[in-house]
Amino acid sequence: MKKPFSSSTLESTKKSSQDEPVVYLNGEYLALSNAHISVLDRGFSFGDGVYEVIPAYDKNLFRLQHHLQRLDDSLAAIKIKNPLTAKQWQQSIEQLIQNNPYDDQSVSLQVTRGIGPRDHSFPHNENPTVFMMTSPQKKPSSEISITGISAITLNDNRWKNCHIKSISLLANVLLHQEALDKGAKEAILLRDGYATEGAASNLFILQNDCLITPPKGPLLLPGITRDLIVEIAKQQNFYLKEQNITKAELLNAQEIWVTSSTKEIAPVTKLNDKIIGSGKPGAHWNKMMQAYQSYKQGLRSNTIG
Ligand code: PDD
Repeated sequence: MKKPFSSSTLESTKKSSQDEPVVYLNGEYLALSNAHISVLDRGFSFGDGVYEVIPAYDKNLFRLQHHLQRLDDSLAAIKIKNPLTAKQWQQSIEQLIQNNPYDDQSVSLQVTRGIGPRDHSFPHNENPTVFMMTSPQKKPSSEISITGISAITLNDNRWKNCHIKSISLLANVLLHQEALDKGAKEAILLRDGYATEGAASNLFILQNDCLITPPKGPLLLPGITRDLIVEIAKQQNFYLKEQNITKAELLNAQEIWVTSSTKEIAPVTKLNDKIIGSGKPGAHWNKMMQAYQSYKQGLRSNTIG
C-alpha cells in the first residue's frame, strides 16, 4: 500500500519552490516541476487509468464521499485495486489543499495501472500510480447567468462504458473541441436518437415545467453535480423524471442545462442555432441555481459535508 504522504518531503518542497503549485505523487508532496512519471506508465501508453475532479470551497471538499465512491467504482470496473483507503484519500487530499494557496480549488486526481512493459496484458505485480494536483476553482462567469451558453448536438461516438471515469478521454476531447470550433461551448451527445450527456457534463431539460435527466447507466457518467441537482429538485418539489430524452424533446425543451463540478449548472440558451425558451436563462434554472449556491454556502460555513 502506498504511503498517503510524507511530511519531510513537503518541508523541503516548501523551501525550494515557493511559487509553484504543490502536487502529490505516490505519497509525496512535490513542487510541480519536481514531479516526474515514467514514460512506461500505462496511463501514458494506454490511457489505462481513472480520475476524479473534486471542487473545494474555502478548502472544504464538495461531496468527497460521493467522489471517493465513484472512484472506487471506476477502479473496480477496470480491475485496479484501490491503492488508498477512504481515510488515506481524505487525509491526502485535505493535505494537498492546505499546501496550496487558493481558498477555492479544483482537485484533479488520477490513478493509473502504473509502470509496465508496452504490452496490452496487465503487468504482474501491479503498483498503481497516484497523482493529484489542484488548480484555482474559477467561479462560472457572470456573463453566463445573463446570456446562457450555446451548444451543438453531435453523434455520441464514445465507447459503451461511459459510467467509468476513464482518463482515456480522446472521444470526449474531440467532441468538445468540435463544439468550440463551431462557436459553441459544449457538445450535447446523441446516441440512437437519445441525448446522453455533454462531452464533459450531464444534461437536464425542462419540459412542461418538469425537470428531466437521462437515467444513470453505462452510456453516461454518474455526475456528482447531477445527483445533487436531483436531490435538490426532490427537496424543492420540482416535478422530476429520470427518463430518456429524444432529439426532438431536446430541441423543443423549455430550458436546457449542462452540469459539472467545474461548470456548475450552465443554462443552454441556443442549440444548433435554435433559440431555447426565451433565449435567456430560465426561471427554473434561476431557482435551482439559488438552491445550489446556498448548498455551496453551507459547505463554506462548514454546516454541510
Ligand atoms: N467532467 N459527464 C462527463 C462526460 C464529464 O466529463 C463530467 C465532468 C460530467 C459531470 O460530472 P461531475 O458532476 O461529477 O463533475 C458528466 C470533469 C469535470 C472533467 O473531466 O474535468
